[in-house]
Amino acid sequence: MTENYEIIDHEYDVVVVGAGGAGLRAGFGCAEKGLRTALISKVFPTRSHTVAAQGGISAALGNMGEDDWRFHFYDTIKGSDWLGDQDAIEYMCREAIPAIYELEHYGVPFSRTAEGKIYQRAFGGMTTHYGKGTAQRTCAAADRTGHAILHTLYTQALKNHAEFFIEYFALDLIMNDEGECLGVMAWNLDDGTIHRFRAHQVILATGGYGRAYFSCTSAHTCTGDGNAMVQRAGLPLQDMEFVQFHPTGIYGAGCLITEGVRGEGGYLTNSEGERFMERYAPSAKDLASRDVVSRSMTIEVREGRGVGERNDHIHLNLMHLDPDIIHQRLPGIAESARIFAGVDVTKEPIPVLPTVHYNMGGIPTNFRTEVLNPQPDDPNRIVPGLMAIGEAACVSVHGANRLGSNSLLDLVVFGRAAAIRAAETVAPGAPHKPMCGDDGTKALERLDHFRNAKGSTRTADLRDQMQRTMQDHAAVFRTGDTLQEGCDKIAKIFDGKADLSIEDRSLIFNTDLVETLELDNLLGQAVVTLESGVNRTESRGAHAREDCADRDDENWMKHTVTWIDEKGKTKIDYRPVILQTLTDEVEPVPPKARVY
Ligand code: FUM
Repeated sequence: MTENYEIIDHEYDVVVVGAGGAGLRAGFGCAEKGLRTALISKVFPTRSHTVAAQGGISAALGNMGEDDWRFHFYDTIKGSDWLGDQDAIEYMCREAIPAIYELEHYGVPFSRTAEGKIYQRAFGGMTTHYGKGTAQRTCAAADRTGHAILHTLYTQALKNHAEFFIEYFALDLIMNDEGECLGVMAWNLDDGTIHRFRAHQVILATGGYGRAYFSCTSAHTCTGDGNAMVQRAGLPLQDMEFVQFHPTGIYGAGCLITEGVRGEGGYLTNSEGERFMERYAPSAKDLASRDVVSRSMTIEVREGRGVGERNDHIHLNLMHLDPDIIHQRLPGIAESARIFAGVDVTKEPIPVLPTVHYNMGGIPTNFRTEVLNPQPDDPNRIVPGLMAIGEAACVSVHGANRLGSNSLLDLVVFGRAAAIRAAETVAPGAPHKPMCGDDGTKALERLDHFRNAKGSTRTADLRDQMQRTMQDHAAVFRTGDTLQEGCDKIAKIFDGKADLSIEDRSLIFNTDLVETLELDNLLGQAVVTLESGVNRTESRGAHAREDCADRDDENWMKHTVTWIDEKGKTKIDYRPVILQTLTDEVEPVPPKARVY
């Protein structure tokens, strides 16, 4: 039975859920365009996970040598293993250049070249002349680029009078009977009050769901809350089988060591001291794409050439780099290596291991950031009133594998695109439609359900089971059997929700309840990740099936779309990859073998 909650109502033109890089860029963009805009965030904005982004943000500025956004376009498609939508990739790579200058003018303290230009470093898979040269395309603020960008965007949001609701946990979307989104329900963690936000556009910018795994570089807050709200609204998620492992997480701790280390000349070695990437990627070597490097490291360990007492990890060497370069350009990772691995990077290698880092999959959108509900007769059907951006979204610019430094770019380009689209579709101050169907009650029924959970399983125990299952069964390498076993296990763990217990029933700063709601959010995503994986009988990008080792364009160059109901029953369908470009300024890139 639902408790009688007192609801505090709010009306805005636009409500953005999440105040990381994407949410802030969208939020202040909407406010700047005269739309009354609220940003709801479960953490203080500058604590959002964007703050952890290290190496940089890509754009073909050509500050360090020749470059062209068309090279960036080509690299991104190849990086995506031809699962990325080429219209969206064209949009992102072309808009990258003005987006960086815009950030510079907002005040992002980028590192500088001797001539005072924005400093750019090499990153994996970034080339010139369609794979022939190495591009230095990743604009950096030392190795704290996300921190610099996030703080700058926050000040822009304040300047443009976006309104913040901080430490509010978004519960669910309010959808009407016609399938339109009318707003969102949220819980104020500080005082326990319940809030109903009406909006003409709700923009989900809630990040990825890395915490479905045991070891990840993601913050504890990365529980894919927006993705889960979309699932509960009866809408699908797309390409969830594609989970990126970053090659260089600190062994045992999982913290990120930026790819920028390899961009500055660092390299990986095995127990024989061999620079093994030369065998796997003779041309790009340590700067091949992340899926390629992570697989190569995993093979080295499996074949007995791992380092350490258990031969179970790899060394990342930067002892040969000038200490001044480390001090200027990589100060953060030197500190992380000292704290989390006890290593002085000027003297010893860093112990590293591929670690879950990024979700290529998420809420399907078009390049305007409008959420899609693909139907057999209309794969591009839009959900009115709902947009998604950042890691929560699957635009899809990253396809089966994201290139490093395309993520910060995705945040700012599509955050801005969302503001542009919202301004085109929303008249400031227009009256809100009457609610027909749900008025927020469903969100409160769910809240009540978990508040009153009186089973015998602790949230932390069920979460541990989920995280270990994902780590074992949706790993760098998969097979049909391991994935199927994972599906069977995760289905049981999903059912385990019915036996959860909550000790604290209050609504004021109840971390027990927050973690339970987050676990519920993660579980639906874990199920569709495994189900989508077992269905895709090919290898593409981050989805490496040992039992189907080749990419199969004839049968599988298509996006997976997966729905899940409240009982955990899934439905899977597919929609075509967009192979056309937006303009004739660039030619579509036809699929070919992917070698680095
Ligand atoms: O390695 C890094 O600095 C991470 C960057 C990214 O994921 O884009």
